[in-house]
Amino acid sequence: MIGSDVIRRFAGQGMEPTGFPPTGTEPNMTVTIDNTIDPNGITAPEPSGSPLDAEPPTVARVEDGSRIYGSGGTEVVALDHVDVEFASGEFVAIMGPSGAGKSTLLHCLAGLDRLSSGRVFIGDRDITAAGEKELTLLRRDHLGFVFQSYNLVPTLTAAENITLPLDLAGRKPDREWLDEVIGIVGLGDRLTHRPDELSGGQQQRVAVARAMVGRPALILADEPTGNLDSRSGGEILRFLRLGVGDLGLTVVMVTHDPVAAACSDRVVFVTDGRITDELAEPDVDGVIDHMRLLGR
Ligand SMILES: Nc1ncnc2c1ncn2[C@@H]1O[C@H](COP(=O)(O)OP(=O)(O)O)[C@@H](O)[C@H]1O
Ligand SMILES: [Mg+2]
Repeated sequence: MIGSDVIRRFAGQGMEPTGFPPTGTEPNMTVTIDNTIDPNGITAPEPSGSPLDAEPPTVARVEDGSRIYGSGGTEVVALDHVDVEFASGEFVAIMGPSGAGKSTLLHCLAGLDRLSSGRVFIGDRDITAAGEKELTLLRRDHLGFVFQSYNLVPTLTAAENITLPLDLAGRKPDREWLDEVIGIVGLGDRLTHRPDELSGGQQQRVAVARAMVGRPALILADEPTGNLDSRSGGEILRFLRLGVGDLGLTVVMVTHDPVAAACSDRVVFVTDGRITDELAEPDVDGVIDHMRLLGR
């Protein structure tokens, strides 16, 4: 499945406006793994020590967002008048039962799917009606992605996978940043190995580094620990946490796991397409209690 087509998609090509918004099929998530150093704007801000910086800027928001699939008797309301925003430097977990609309929310934030009504902003930019080209560049330059299934290119080494988004965009890696990112995921001598020579946990570390390498404004992670044992999953969470704390990145992560959610700064609970609750500074017991309260 992964081959030259994916590589073309990495380069931001091969995405036609036809078939968008998707009609009855999942968006092709392979298009989303490209991200590069930002040339001009909505990127992860440098940490600023000014006491005048009160509120961190919003990196993404959905205003009164609804997404309805199908029509008539087969209508599915995946998002139902959602209002949510994510501040720069936040690590937010999205939780909710299967089918609640979590992935739809991520897809709409990434411009991979379109709201039926409402608006989506990345930074100050209203992307609700943006064209395909603009969305492709937005994903490439401002967003990072981590998937449950790693989505690495099997013929490339770990190091090549990490820098592939930059290479294909014709950008030179910022050496210092790259070293920091590689330091965080701690792959050491594994960098010269190909994905089939790496464990699942190691592959996901490569994927996390790839998502961070372009210093994106926002990293979207859909069940990044879903395929991993608890130890490897814990490592991935630690790297995401370090990315937020040490590198100033912003992460929005869908998860089923209360332990994973407890690593975040804030948990947003989604039920039947609606945001039904939020929990700041979560701990595992608090998350489990909230899930119980919500009847899950
Ligand atoms: N492309 C699609 N076409 C039709 N229905 C969809 C599509 N994508 C998602 N859905 C439906 O929307 C609802 C929310 O799905 P999803 O966002 O994937 O949930 P979650 O990620 O929380 O499990 C589900 O009922 C799902 O079946
Ligand atoms: Mg999902």
